Amino acid sequence: AFEESVSIVVFGASGDLASKKTFPALFALFSKGLLPKKTRIYGYARSEMSKEEFSKKQTSHIKSADEQADKIKEFTSLSTYVRGGYDDDKDFRQLNSVIEEGEKNMPEKNRLFYLALPPSQFADVGEHIKKECYLKEDEGRIRVIIEKPFGRDLKSSRELQAQLSPIFSEVELYRIDHYLGKEVVKNLMKVRFLNTVMMSFWDNRFISNVSIVFKEPFGTEKRGGYFDDVGIIRDVMQNHLVQVLCLLTMSRPVSTSPEDIRDEKVKVLRAVRPVDAKDIILGQYVAAEVNGEKKPGYKDDDTIENKDTKTPTFAAIPLYIENDRWDGVPFVLKAGKALNEAKVEIVMQFKPVPGALRDHIPPNELIFRIQPDEAILLKMNTKYPGLNDKLVVDDLDISYRDSFPKVAIPEAYESLILDCLKGDHSNFVRDDELDEAWKIFTPILERIDAGDVKVHDYKYGSEGPEVMKEFMQSKGFIDDI
Ligand code: BG6
Repeated sequence: AFEESVSIVVFGASGDLASKKTFPALFALFSKGLLPKKTRIYGYARSEMSKEEFSKKQTSHIKSADEQADKIKEFTSLSTYVRGGYDDDKDFRQLNSVIEEGEKNMPEKNRLFYLALPPSQFADVGEHIKKECYLKEDEGRIRVIIEKPFGRDLKSSRELQAQLSPIFSEVELYRIDHYLGKEVVKNLMKVRFLNTVMMSFWDNRFISNVSIVFKEPFGTEKRGGYFDDVGIIRDVMQNHLVQVLCLLTMSRPVSTSPEDIRDEKVKVLRAVRPVDAKDIILGQYVAAEVNGEKKPGYKDDDTIENKDTKTPTFAAIPLYIENDRWDGVPFVLKAGKALNEAKVEIVMQFKPVPGALRDHIPPNELIFRIQPDEAILLKMNTKYPGLNDKLVVDDLDISYRDSFPKVAIPEAYESLILDCLKGDHSNFVRDDELDEAWKIFTPILERIDAGDVKVHDYKYGSEGPEVMKEFMQSKGFIDDI
């Protein structure tokens, strides 16, 4: 249910996540009239900031801000900055009294705490929220949003969870994976389960291989300090691509309730066979010239201390789901930085036409383009019109820009914060889901961290390591469509 009123507290209000994602998303919801009628927003951080400085932090990443000057003014007037430490009772008591002041003219007290903080601070902040800023059960609802990294392997993820679970219940916790807020990802269940045509081929009888591809055209660019300890698998694969995999492969949930959906996601993750270290490809980008411009290699990033680092910036990992629906179908998760283009998509290739009437029939392909230019495309063989017998491949095409020209696609964070305000957990990661995702990747990450897996060089701006072509072919992928 959507509440009448809410106090939203953003911890880490002076940081990057808050100013780039959280505040712009809150503003977008506000300007569309989608926040509860009575909303107050609080920023909390350690730095001293004047109201003006805070307002600047809140609004500096809002797009086309000039055209929305009035709305921005209204938005910042709903917002208050509170300075305080993350482990100080007194400061949290002060925060509580500021929130209480704002609650005086609210019909209901509901509090949403957004922890835009590194996970090392979750427990401290959580304990202090619980001690000083919590509500009694009948007073109103508490919601807490946290964001990755949720540990760096199964053990550390469980440790983090063990710190949080005595403080907040699973109902109160909302673990964000922003890929679950992307429009095409949100559409996956609808397309799969509300179209008879889709349901009729969604299994290993018809699908030959699937790739879930994440490509970024830029390197770590000064984020190397963070990235070098993480690598591409922890950065985007164990979380974002796995969530996409779940929605793509899970069975139809018993209902659309969040717990029924998440039960199915857990089931499919549990059916994933352990990854074979011999069957994966890793890469790290090296300097190259792209369109006449010299681009640095990963190790050239000054923020990386270890100049012998083997941290992968590219990985291709085939996952096999051992259940009746998917047995034998490779799901290749493929992710890389500093590649030739920006693209995130799912490519499902169909088996060849049985007993084909002619040679070289390209396989059908179903593509979900998550970004850029959201689209769902089905590649079909069709006769080229005219007095000939030529065959061409063309698309049955739902391109969002053409199909829904008047709709501006919302940012993922907007969509997820709105879900959270509605109390809908469907698009947030449950504790057991997280655990299963770590179980899949931890053994292979240990091998990689120990330097047991070869890391291939690839050129900045290329399609990845050269061995990829052969590797994809070995998974049944046909790329000359
Ligand atoms: C983040 C990763 O989770 O996702 C980044 O830490 C990555 O490295 C980003 O660039 C990608 O998100 P998006 O929404 O830009 O595709």
